[in-house]
Amino acid sequence: MYYFEEIDSTNNFAKHNSLADGSIVLTNHQTNGKGRHEHAWISKKGADLTFTLVKKIADQNTEQVKLVFAVTYAVYETIKEILIKENFEISGNISVKWPNDILIRQKKIAGILIEAKPQKNLYLIGIGINVNGTSFHDALKKKSTSLCLETGKSIDLNFLLITLVKNLNKYLKFVEDHKYKEIYNLWRNSLTCINQNVEFLDAKGNLLTGTVTDILENGQIQIRQNGIISEYNTGEIRLQL
Ligand code: BTN
Repeated sequence: MYYFEEIDSTNNFAKHNSLADGSIVLTNHQTNGKGRHEHAWISKKGADLTFTLVKKIADQNTEQVKLVFAVTYAVYETIKEILIKENFEISGNISVKWPNDILIRQKKIAGILIEAKPQKNLYLIGIGINVNGTSFHDALKKKSTSLCLETGKSIDLNFLLITLVKNLNKYLKFVEDHKYKEIYNLWRNSLTCINQNVEFLDAKGNLLTGTVTDILENGQIQIRQNGIISEYNTGEIRLQL
């Protein structure tokens, strides 16, 4: 375990240093956190969970999307466990937004950034969870929430980290054991967007409106527009109409 009172980004530290399989890089304050699609990930000093797990996947043929399913599902299950412990009504309130955002009541509570060091079969699994912060920058206010805001209680960061690492080990084992269908099914059942109308920003920056018909085992999203179904590898679901 590498612990820093303050660091720019736990993923960057893991990227620029040679760390063993299973290492965790944890910080109390991430000053330049990275999100997906070149976004920033902003966390509050001492209030949020920000860390990176270094994971070796021996099998060269394992696609990164399998890790996305396992890690996202592990974060989803962990947040459910914490909410149940705090007597929060989880039914219908917690979900996964393709590909790897965790939402509570449609607001983002956690984000995941997985980067690869392909030459060494290492993956840098960066996870950020909004935990005890109670205010957000204007741009994030409508779209984000925290465990404390949802439960009204201050959440123990150590307990959250221990629970999450337990679940990461449990669900990453599905990938190591090639139980791809099982982990895909668990992940798929936690999605809310299937059969919903959404705005979708594709990789080229085009904003389109359509219905999500499915998300495939290879991670592609299928969107139906005017009766025609198209598949996209990457992009962003903007909002649910
Ligand atoms: C996203 O939703 O865009 C992904 C956010 C990922 C944030 C985490 S916090 C720990 C790790 N270090 C980073 O710089 N980013 C990830």
